[in-house]
Amino acid sequence: MERKIYLDNASTTYVSNEVMTEMLPCFNTIYGNAGSLHSLGREAVAIIDRARDRVKNAINAAKANEIYFTSGGTEADNWALIGVAHANANKGKHIITSSIEHHAVLHACEQLQKEGFEITYLPVDKHGLVDLAELLHAIRKDTILISVMTVNNEVGTIQNVKAIAKIAHDYKILFHTDAVQAIGHVKMDVQDMEIDLMSMSAHKIHGPKGVGALYVKNGVRIDPITFGGISQERGKRSGTENVPGIAGFGKAIEIATRNIAVTNAKLKSIRDYFLEKLAEKVEYYQVNGHPQQKSNAIANVSFYGIEGESILMLLDMAGICVSTASACTSRSLLPSHVLQAMGVPDEIAQGSVRFSFGTNISKSDVDYVIDQLQKVVAQLRAISPIQPEKEVKKNVQ
Ligand SMILES: Cc1ncc(COP(=O)(O)O)c(C=O)c1O
Repeated sequence: MERKIYLDNASTTYVSNEVMTEMLPCFNTIYGNAGSLHSLGREAVAIIDRARDRVKNAINAAKANEIYFTSGGTEADNWALIGVAHANANKGKHIITSSIEHHAVLHACEQLQKEGFEITYLPVDKHGLVDLAELLHAIRKDTILISVMTVNNEVGTIQNVKAIAKIAHDYKILFHTDAVQAIGHVKMDVQDMEIDLMSMSAHKIHGPKGVGALYVKNGVRIDPITFGGISQERGKRSGTENVPGIAGFGKAIEIATRNIAVTNAKLKSIRDYFLEKLAEKVEYYQVNGHPQQKSNAIANVSFYGIEGESILMLLDMAGICVSTASACTSRSLLPSHVLQAMGVPDEIAQGSVRFSFGTNISKSDVDYVIDQLQKVVAQLRAISPIQPEKEVKKNVQ
């Protein structure tokens, strides 16, 4: 069988056996609609309640009723932005976010702009960090929400979320964070970090696709964005509950948070080994993202003088799966908005590849990847009209 090495875990992950075991009975045994009053319906409710408790415990929410299940991170982000904007428009119509957010936040902001809201997109430094002084400068009397992601999905930079939340509250502004790439990698404690709203997704942590949650602290005003059944998710999120998905998400987040230290240690060791071998075998590239304050799961590398897409295709032919940017934009050839915001010139950004690691990757897998990468980069550089400047040295961070 052809060797497959999956280095695209920030796009999605495989569903673990424990999660599948948790989900299976919900398909054909306990298949009731949670809205039904009979025993199968009540059993479905019990499964959802257990999952809600697991999510609550994983993020240290005060109450289980602060967790609302959604169809994933995108819906959670859309809802946080649009729902808070609509419910608080009487207080003001200004929202602050960062220029490196996921499109689920950025496109929700664009939608709100069409409705008359004003959005400030905070710049980031060359490592992808939001400057707190810039944030303070952007705050206005009519600011109702600050939304800054915890871990960036393209470069892995971790923001100073606790400090940002504190600033928001000093000015009586709500704080939302997209923690889709953080869960299982960064300890998320919504009470300690003073988070008002937080988006999560199951499929990044060995759970199923199409399910996630929005944490909404009790007391936060948020309007629904889906309309239908009034009893589902306490009238805030209509739609028949995805019971198998919710059960799987509950299990996945429980495992991911329980194993966070072990996972981080493994990922750090494998990511550092990858970067070390890369430095030995390949020349003329830079690693994007913060040198220290970054997720252990992600290494974003720009190879000078060649196209990220060409590298991706040739690695794919060698059985290696990587991305050029986030999965949602990787079918477009636009330079990444994240790298652009970090000041990476377009011609360098075009040569970027995101390697995102899983705990199942061994050092021998990495050796194989580096061998193939060395060949692919040499092959592409041989036919590239642009030669990387000899004086540009390796790994400029
Ligand atoms: C940071 C971030 N936010 C939101 C999403 C969207 O989540 P989902 O795929 O569950 O809709 C993703 C997925 O790539 C992500 O990485």
